Amino acid sequence: MASHFQSLLLFLMATLATLFLIPTHAQSQLSPDFYRRVCPKALPVIRSVVKQAIKREARMGASLLRLHFHDCFVNGCDGSILLDDFPGFIGEKTARPNNNSARGFEVVDEIKRAVDRACKRPVVSCADILAVAARDSVEILGGPRFRYQVELGRRDGRTASRDAANSNLPLASFNFSQLLSNFQSQGLNLKDLVVLSGGHTIGLARCATFRNRLYNDTNIDRSFAAILKRTCPASGGNGNLSPLDSTATRADTAYYRDLVKNRGLLRSDQELFKRDGGESDKLVQLYSRNLLAFARDFGVSMIKMGNMSPLTGTNGEIRVNCRKIN
Ligand code: HEM
Ligand SMILES: *[C@@H]1O[C@H](CO)[C@@H](O)[C@H](O)[C@H]1NC(C)=O
Ligand SMILES: *[C@@H]1O[C@H](CO)[C@@H](O)[C@H](O)[C@H]1NC(C)=O
Ligand SMILES: *[C@@H]1O[C@H](CO)[C@@H](O)[C@H](O)[C@H]1NC(C)=O
Repeated sequence: MASHFQSLLLFLMATLATLFLIPTHAQSQLSPDFYRRVCPKALPVIRSVVKQAIKREARMGASLLRLHFHDCFVNGCDGSILLDDFPGFIGEKTARPNNNSARGFEVVDEIKRAVDRACKRPVVSCADILAVAARDSVEILGGPRFRYQVELGRRDGRTASRDAANSNLPLASFNFSQLLSNFQSQGLNLKDLVVLSGGHTIGLARCATFRNRLYNDTNIDRSFAAILKRTCPASGGNGNLSPLDSTATRADTAYYRDLVKNRGLLRSDQELFKRDGGESDKLVQLYSRNLLAFARDFGVSMIKMGNMSPLTGTNGEIRVNCRKIN
């Protein structure tokens, strides 16, 4: 009897500990309803500014999605990528993967102004604006299947790190094992890598980021490479743009269908499909054929990425201007 009682007690204590005491996962700290009471207009306002911006320039949806990714991979989703450099402070905007590359900052400013006006005070963090804008962008360019419940309640960081941006963000030159260990060091897995790389279903890349693939890689479709060489010469033209997949203003399965045809634009893209029959090949094949699976898994992995070390509670702040610490 006594030992029964003891084990019951132990069981209860363990359950209580996991429920309340041990801070298990960041996931539990964010919630889709975070702004429901404090500012119910926040999400519709963000969405409408994103929609207008995409109407002006379809690429903007891609640029906003990438900002959220580059925010989250550098010390968590804390809006750090949005901070401007100023004398005595070096932010992430001039880190190699972002310099002359990350864009959409004016649209983020526009969203912030609109949302603060609608809420009558600055209650929505810049980090949350990026998470919502990324979700809305993909949905606007891909349809309602890409809608997922974005988790909210992140606060904005008071620091940024160019060094961390340089060392944490993956490069187009990475091979598969480098990509996987990069994602694993963020708590993401192989499936997250394959499905989140599907972010390249929208947007453009500069010649400088895929030149090496055109001129040095063998696992590239020859006519695809020949056409690209016209916009991306062996030297010069670093800033010339090419679409990341064959339908760069639509979120769809074309990115994966292109990979199966050896038509990935970046080396890091094609690394996900190498005809070695591995796990990654299988996922690429699945997503190339199944929009529903891609859209659903993309939402799941985006939520996971969005949960990476957020600042919550009294940590950080709600920035008044996304470019500056209060
Ligand atoms: C897996 C490793 C990844 C690598 C190596 C990588 C690399 C790159 C590179 C080199 C570019 C072009 C940048 C330029 O031309 O200046 C780019 C663009 C882009 N990336 Fe990635 N990326 C990765 C993952 C992701 C993820 C996880 C997302 C989002 C979920 C994403 C979203 C985008 C988007 C939307 C663009 C186009 C941006 C625009 O047109 O403004 N990427 N990426
Ligand atoms: C960023 O790009 C500008 C313009 O091309 C360049 O002058 C500057 O040196 C770059 N910054 C860094 C840190 O590489
Ligand atoms: C991937 O790149 C790393 C670093 O360059 C290298 O050490 C490794 O051997 C490469 N892996 C494969 C499978 O090519
Ligand atoms: C091809 O690879 C070689 C060796 O890594 C490198 O020196 C060369 O610059 C590359 N060519 C292009 C066009 O990127």
